[in-house]
Amino acid sequence: MNGLQLLGTGRCLPGRRVTNDDFARTLDTSDEWIAGRTGIRQRYFCAEGETAASLAVEAARRALEDAGLGPEKVGLCIVATFTADRNTPSLACQVHQALGLPETAFCLDVNAACTGFVAALETARCLLLGGQMAGPCALVLGAEKISGLLDFSDRSTCVLFGDGAAAAVVRLDPQAPWAAVFGARGDSRMLHGGGKEDPYLAMDGRGVFRFAVETVPVCIRAVLDKAGLTLDQVDQLVCHQANSRIIHSIAKKLGQDPARFYENMQRYGNTSAASIPLALDEMRRSGQLQAGQTVLCAGFGAGLTWGGVLLRA
Ligand code: UT7
Repeated sequence: MNGLQLLGTGRCLPGRRVTNDDFARTLDTSDEWIAGRTGIRQRYFCAEGETAASLAVEAARRALEDAGLGPEKVGLCIVATFTADRNTPSLACQVHQALGLPETAFCLDVNAACTGFVAALETARCLLLGGQMAGPCALVLGAEKISGLLDFSDRSTCVLFGDGAAAAVVRLDPQAPWAAVFGARGDSRMLHGGGKEDPYLAMDGRGVFRFAVETVPVCIRAVLDKAGLTLDQVDQLVCHQANSRIIHSIAKKLGQDPARFYENMQRYGNTSAASIPLALDEMRRSGQLQAGQTVLCAGFGAGLTWGGVLLRA
């Protein structure tokens, strides 16, 4: 079916760990509210000198090392991000420079917010399948420095997000199952920020919650239908890590035990495009994700956008 095989993963978290109690010292909030409403207990923010690019480079380096591959095998590098440090060069080109990727490598960033990593995987698969890439492997990353867009006096948003980067090395596998489903509902009110007029992230939290719980189960079922698989034939389920209650509602709608869905928002908060590869890296390194397993990844978020794909570990 010409799906993607995961050859290696890596992650990089910045140096400043901030707990819910740390927020409660300066804001009218509490660990009880944040953890109870979202599952989040702590997150990491960039310290002085740390950037989306520095996190991306380190995550990519670790993923190549995990895959046991040198940079010469990389035919393309795609970074999913909505918080690149500057408009140009792309984060992908900064990874290219730092890791010494070949001149023949195709490099670009994609912005699909929290759906970014899933969108980047499908982009990588199509480009590899097109047969024009110079190397057999793709480096696919999610990298975010969301702290730069947070209003730290707005308790309804600043406690939700975190910075981080994670990378996956993938290649085409003719035996690996594949299906991809995407959607968008253009909406500039529900979740926005980073512009001249709206420098800080702002959102209608309840609206985004409802949107996620409505669209993600439908998306997951559509991926399975396209691939001719049942949920029981999927070994691991990884959704974007925005809120534990969203994941539990998705599981309930699909008639699944929520324990089947990986959760790590308690450690990192919502890291947008980085959240799914962060989960994959943790799962791989802890032994939960084993060679040959099938993983279904589903992202959702600003845009509004959503998407789901399969991966073979
Ligand atoms: O990556 C995708 C993007 N984002 C998401 O997926 C987020 C989706 N939405 C959510 O996760 C939830 O809607 C939130 C966690 C953002 C909010 O949870 P909620 O249960 O929908 O709460 P709410 O917004 O309805 O707010 C309930 C109350 C409000 O007070 P009043 O108006 O009822 O008096 C808020 O002002 O909680 C208050 N509140 C807080 N209280 C303590 C909002 N933020 C905080 C806070 N600490 N940090």
